[in-house]
Amino acid sequence: MKKDPLLFRIDLLAWYDRHGRDLPWRITGTKTQNPYNVWLSEVMLQQTTVQAVVPYYLKFMDRWPTVEKLAKAQQSEVTDMWAGLGYYSRARNLHKCAQVIANDYNGQFPEDEKALLSLPGIGSYTANAIQAIAYNKPANVVDGNVERIMARLFAIKTPFPDGKVKAKKMAGKFINKHEGLHSDYAQALMDLGAIICRPKSPLCYSCPVSKNCDAFQQGITNDLPKRKKKVPLPHKVGNVSVIISKDHKILLERRVEKGMLSGMIGLPTSEWLEAKDPTPEPLMGQLKGDIKTLFFVKHIFTHFSLSLTPTIIQLDIVSAKFQIKDDRDLYWKDIRQLDVLELPTLFRKVLRMVEY
Ligand code: ADE
Repeated sequence: MKKDPLLFRIDLLAWYDRHGRDLPWRITGTKTQNPYNVWLSEVMLQQTTVQAVVPYYLKFMDRWPTVEKLAKAQQSEVTDMWAGLGYYSRARNLHKCAQVIANDYNGQFPEDEKALLSLPGIGSYTANAIQAIAYNKPANVVDGNVERIMARLFAIKTPFPDGKVKAKKMAGKFINKHEGLHSDYAQALMDLGAIICRPKSPLCYSCPVSKNCDAFQQGITNDLPKRKKKVPLPHKVGNVSVIISKDHKILLERRVEKGMLSGMIGLPTSEWLEAKDPTPEPLMGQLKGDIKTLFFVKHIFTHFSLSLTPTIIQLDIVSAKFQIKDDRDLYWKDIRQLDVLELPTLFRKVLRMVEY
């Protein structure tokens, strides 16, 4: 059916005024928002839910209230604070980007798309989000919520991810012929996706734009977007050592700057190998103590799933020189001072199984 972009926007914005979410990075009643807040929240929100992001966002803003302060942080401090949010290259790029903004842009995020795209960790989505939300420019901000809304509004039957191209094109049809509230419009669409046009059981009878919706008219909102069958992820296996001494020390490792969870703090693990290979040996070195093996912990990364079998080793005392492999950055930490929030989720899952 024919859709009038201006009427669509007016209906959506009226709904947003009443039902938009109160999120810490939003300032309502103003046309623009601080680009630093927008950038930080948008980088965190990629691949992560609003609910998971809010406490991290608040922690970061408290610790680094300006881009200059973030630029001066140690990279490990930033990645440690990011632990649990996943996709750790985002944290490293966040820090690099802060340094470029502080050093080359005098602390001001650029408005121009080309300049934004040249910054570390900023791709087309984030550049558009900054332009629209922070600078109130007519950029086409298309995240997963918006793709789903467009798939339904235009009854796009091409399975995702292929159908995403058309969804983005259709979203573009609502940009430009407008009333000027680009920042609100971008966020209103996201909220519509999160609150009404939900992935499952959309609330079409409360939807402010259902009269424009082809899928609603055809009674197929719940079937869209269609998705291609997922190819099963490769599976890897390994061991993780939980080495604890009677005087409350636990052995941790700063992981090497390469591969998955690079540079993050963790429990020492073996290599992670394809499940068809023999399971690697636990890392025990010459340790003698009370040894116990637990049932594996499963974790899913973007490109593979992983089962780690924990070996718990209770030592009487900590050996000063720890001889597993010299090139590993291993260190002891008092377990009573261990903040599990500094560990990636994989290791939090392991520690949840251990009594200490
Ligand atoms: N998801 C991604 N960006 C968002 C934003 N600014 N508000 C709400 N949800 C979002």
